[in-house]
Amino acid sequence: MKLYYVYILECADKFFYTGITTNITRRFVEHQKGLNKTCFTFKRRPLELIFYQEFNDVNQAIFFEKKIKKWRRSKKLALGNEDFDTLQILSECNNQSHSKNYKVTKLSLPVESKSKEEENSKVLSLRAESRSQEVENKPSTKRGLDSARPDIQQSINQQIFLPILQEKKVDLYIKREDKIHPFVSGNKFRKLKYNILEAKKMQQDTLLTFGGAFSNHIVATAVAGKLAGLKTIGVIRGDELRNNLQKTLANNSTLKKAHENGMDFHFVSRASYRDKTSVSFINSLKEQFGDFYLIPEGGTNDLAIKGCEEILTKEDSEFDAICVAVGTGGTISGLINSAKSHQKVIGFPALKGDFLQQEIEKLTTRRENWSLLNEYHFGGYAKYNEVLISFINQFYAATKIKLDPIYTGKMLFGIVDVIKKDYFSENSKILIIHTGGIQGIEGVNQKLSNKNLALISFS
Ligand SMILES: Cc1ncc(COP(=O)(O)O)c(C=O)c1O
Repeated sequence: MKLYYVYILECADKFFYTGITTNITRRFVEHQKGLNKTCFTFKRRPLELIFYQEFNDVNQAIFFEKKIKKWRRSKKLALGNEDFDTLQILSECNNQSHSKNYKVTKLSLPVESKSKEEENSKVLSLRAESRSQEVENKPSTKRGLDSARPDIQQSINQQIFLPILQEKKVDLYIKREDKIHPFVSGNKFRKLKYNILEAKKMQQDTLLTFGGAFSNHIVATAVAGKLAGLKTIGVIRGDELRNNLQKTLANNSTLKKAHENGMDFHFVSRASYRDKTSVSFINSLKEQFGDFYLIPEGGTNDLAIKGCEEILTKEDSEFDAICVAVGTGGTISGLINSAKSHQKVIGFPALKGDFLQQEIEKLTTRRENWSLLNEYHFGGYAKYNEVLISFINQFYAATKIKLDPIYTGKMLFGIVDVIKKDYFSENSKILIIHTGGIQGIEGVNQKLSNKNLALISFS
């Protein structure tokens, strides 16, 4: 069978050259030796082959080459990370030609150094000095649209400035995974990435997953599925929501967004939902919906953990501690696997109880480099109080960073508290992972407003 390769070369002067060939090895040698003096790359040698992709179908290859030729540098680099850009193009291409024939191969990709955060700090409030507002307000072309593709280049490490940090001589940074995408944000992108690639590889056209009515994972799966050209089914806890779908959607921005992105809902009683991992329940779903690619509740499985292993980059090895919110334990397991031996990973469970210790022990083999701080769940999953809401509002006023009350707000509250209690030694460098979840705030504010309580406010 004849194969076609679309490839990207990085030239000595940092320009990119995108080409197409039937023999990648021979073609690269020709470029490198300068056999064609009129070629763009001739005067730009030496060259590095940073990416290639193999196709069985010439039309797909041409389509792909044309598309990526127009891309800017950062997007071409992102391509090598196998993110949704690739999936998006391939799914567009599916409509035009033969989806079954493609095969994606990643060769290598040098990691582009992350753009440095803004240097000029400003006094933003009486309580804190922050550089974050500038990052938050940086003009950006495609952010804010759920139709935009996830962009991991947006995830930068941003320093947090608070008086307590100065007092305790601790450096705190936050990895802005929440900026990857408005809905496929934070750990959601990481957890879904390899699952979607796997679903495509298995030629499945439907993703089915589980979640509560305000689940970040549900809306992320709907949006990511749409971007990747896959149908999505959400099995939602609470059969009372089925009775009047219009009303349910009007009162629930999470389900509304998932619905707008094409997700079909299957509402089940709380008792049935508890049965969600049983073979008989899954089989009954297959009878009803046909074959699907199953993603567990919260998105946690081996492929999700593999995706979460990519959160930490080479540059992050300078940190002593990595902090993350914990729900099912998938995200922290990825971090535990990829953390360097001198680093400690600290989890802040959003749920009450000690069971997460055992759950995480099942998901990762490393024992020595992590621990959970169990005192910051605020009463349990999806429980919050005025103290937490006020903390989230004050943290935003001080840093311009949005936190959610289910996961990241509790974590940050815990981090500030343990810093006050000298948990970290002087001169520690701590990296917090912002796992997203901002989409859920609208729903929380609705509940707070029903109870006449102060709202989460980012103004
Ligand atoms: C915003 C946010 N942060 C953290 C977590 C916890 O991640 P995990 O379930 O992988 O522990 C979740 C749940 O997936 C989440 O939605």
